[in-house]
Amino acid sequence: MTPPLLLALPGSEGVAARLTALLGADSGAAVVQRFPDGETYVRIASAVAKRDVILVATLDHPDEKLLPLVYLADAARDAGAWRVGLVAPYLAYLRQDRRFQEGEAITSRSFAWILSATVDWLVTVDPHLHRYRSLAELYTIRAAAVHVAADLGRWIAAEVSNPLIIGPDAESGQWANAVACAANAPAIILEKERHSATAVSVSVPEASRHADRTPVLIDDIISTAQTMIEAARHLRERGLRPPVCVAVHGIFAAGAYRALRDAGVASVVTCNTIPHETNAIDVMPRVADAVRGVLGVKA
Ligand code: R5P
Repeated sequence: MTPPLLLALPGSEGVAARLTALLGADSGAAVVQRFPDGETYVRIASAVAKRDVILVATLDHPDEKLLPLVYLADAARDAGAWRVGLVAPYLAYLRQDRRFQEGEAITSRSFAWILSATVDWLVTVDPHLHRYRSLAELYTIRAAAVHVAADLGRWIAAEVSNPLIIGPDAESGQWANAVACAANAPAIILEKERHSATAVSVSVPEASRHADRTPVLIDDIISTAQTMIEAARHLRERGLRPPVCVAVHGIFAAGAYRALRDAGVASVVTCNTIPHETNAIDVMPRVADAVRGVLGVKA
């Protein structure tokens, strides 16, 4: 059977190379450029006829990536690709999952509709499903979610001595407990209130009895980093040690990483779903397994 051909969108070349190796796949070449007037030019410079094509595009800053993705999928089909899939280690637009104010677009739905019309299948890592139970409520294509709580837990167990896992909010309780279980450590859950995109307040219950432990703040996403910064401030006020911050997806909105470092945290660690200097947990073997599952091939 012909192995799949992976095409990286700009910014996802490293992840695509890792997946190509894990899958024993072929690496293809895609050109994505901008015309001087801002329009997008794409070209697939590899033969794709009668084979599985996998576009690799992590979807932080999604607006600038979406059109190249749509055009590349279309070009692959035109050139005779059998199926066109998408590996989006970070999947955007899941947080606007209801209308908070009259007239707002529910962008999680709109984005899912566009992607479902673009590719035949999708694999992603720990999507931020808050009010949705699964991607199937949004996506009409096959959409597989890879869960990496065990990878976070394993990293923590290996790298942090005597850890205390601290989950961001009540909704994350089950996930935080799964990380704690894999790390063989106790967990506490923060009480969090978000006032706006950049203003968050948290309280830290019953932390002082764990003063001899190293706090490990975990979250699925670091965006503005306000959640982690606020939590770190509370821990400091309660006399706990500077926390290790661990997240699945480090989006790091402008200035967020510096602000988090300046908040006196011990270190910041993320999974390699979005390229960043904090990437220390390789979750691509799990992604490769999920891709094999979707394609129906054995390891
Ligand atoms: C929200 O529900 C998520 O789990 C994260 O806590 C949130 O996205 C973090 O955002 P920020 O870094 O902007 O505080």
